[in-house]
Amino acid sequence: MATGKSGLLNAIAQAHPAPAMPPALDVGTLAQFVDPLPIPEIAQRQGTRPSPADPKLSIPFYRVQAQPTVSKVHRDLPPTRFWSFGPSTPGPTFETRAGEPLLVEWANALPNEHFLPVDHTIHGAEADKPAVRTVVHLHGARTGPESDGYPEDWVVPGKSSLYYYPNQQDPAMLWYHDHTLGINRLNVYAGLLGSFFIRDGVEDALNLPKGKYELPLILYDRLLTRDAQLLYPVSPDPQSPWVPELSGNAILVNGKLFPYLEVEPRKYRFRVLNASNARFYHLSLANKNDAQFHQIGTDQGLLPAPVPLTSLEIAPGERADLSVDFSEHRGAQLVLKNDAFVVMQFRVSPGKVTDTSSLPPALRPVPRIQESQAVQTRLLTLNEYVNKAGNPAMMLLNASHWNMPVTEKPVLESTEIWTLINPTNDSHPIHLHLVRFQILDRQPYEPWLFQTRRQLHFLGPPQPPDPNEAGWKDTVRADSRMVTRIIVPFTGYTGRYVWHCHILEHEDNEMMRPYEVVAAV
Ligand code: C2O
Ligand code: CU
Ligand code: CU
Repeated sequence: MATGKSGLLNAIAQAHPAPAMPPALDVGTLAQFVDPLPIPEIAQRQGTRPSPADPKLSIPFYRVQAQPTVSKVHRDLPPTRFWSFGPSTPGPTFETRAGEPLLVEWANALPNEHFLPVDHTIHGAEADKPAVRTVVHLHGARTGPESDGYPEDWVVPGKSSLYYYPNQQDPAMLWYHDHTLGINRLNVYAGLLGSFFIRDGVEDALNLPKGKYELPLILYDRLLTRDAQLLYPVSPDPQSPWVPELSGNAILVNGKLFPYLEVEPRKYRFRVLNASNARFYHLSLANKNDAQFHQIGTDQGLLPAPVPLTSLEIAPGERADLSVDFSEHRGAQLVLKNDAFVVMQFRVSPGKVTDTSSLPPALRPVPRIQESQAVQTRLLTLNEYVNKAGNPAMMLLNASHWNMPVTEKPVLESTEIWTLINPTNDSHPIHLHLVRFQILDRQPYEPWLFQTRRQLHFLGPPQPPDPNEAGWKDTVRADSRMVTRIIVPFTGYTGRYVWHCHILEHEDNEMMRPYEVVAAV
């Protein structure tokens, strides 16, 4: 990633001595697999309320508050201070059905001071703004703009927002997280996130593993101090504390470090979410060799057919629906690894069990959208800028700041191709609110010719999406020095939404833009 200008960093550090950072925990000294994997509790409704769409209808009402909490991430560490939705982090899991709307009151019950370092030079987080603000976005949801968690729709402690989720969309794992302008990276890092499932009868009929055999695996890394507190690093330059990417020393699964899970020798369904600020994972499941598993769904729901894998790449914001069969591993202990690093352990019981669940060869059709259906193609660049010292200073989409006029105005019910042009050395996971899309292809190109003459000169043939990306997506890896094309039907609602890089440090430092779905004239 775009770091490692250490000579220059040292020079800056000498010019402006940085506040001493507390020493980091040596995670290697901790015992592994001493804590069972926690499973977030299911969100409970607080009754019903009239539907905003039809006041004669009563729909489930939930109230979830952002609040301070403490949690032990490991048996041998003292409790860590977090902010969470409800008493624990990750927050409660919503279990919902497609076509059954619900209301959620998202309340801010946080203190008035932030416990992580706010950078007032970041747009939206200026010193005249309240330090603590929250707004909640349900990532992957098709909602009206007033319930989407627009980054400027934040509320201060003591206030709340009532959001309406129509749930008119295919089953998928969505996730909710803070989206506050300028401090999104800090609020999510503090723990403000949780998962949200939509299900339907079509999916039920597939007889996939369910109940205690279907579990969320929410992954995020955190940088822990020796006394197990969250450390959010600052740059050596006190004038601009922002860092371009958070890289933690501890990978947590559902909030625990090195947890274990006791499983039966049968099929399980794991709903994997990468909720990290910036870390990409390359996951594998190691017994003696890498075990095979299947990916059955992606961000926006089931794939057409299971895809066999021995490793999974998952970028920030992405979800992967996995079917793992432990029946071949009776009595064994498998570890989930990220590259060479151990993340968690599965302990498979030795006795035979009967497994009546299925891994159907066909899951849910995903009709490919034809390019000829697109009425508009937009060339959009991803940009990184460095300061005089050569350190990353700002990230933009299409060389435009957040507060510049809206330039992307797709017409409701039209289909567009967005061509993401990435001249940088980083892969950026690009997410669009409101919509789901398909990946057309990625193609290597020559950045300099495009920068100087706006000519797209390709250096190789277009590469189709990986088989496990060939479903409905809402976040796509726009890889370094590649042109990534997605095809997007803009359906649902008119109004103001956002698109952005899901590396939260990038998003907060302007790699986010509004877009507006407009009515056909
Ligand atoms: Cu998961 Cu706009 O974000
Ligand atoms: Cu989103
Ligand atoms: Cu980025």
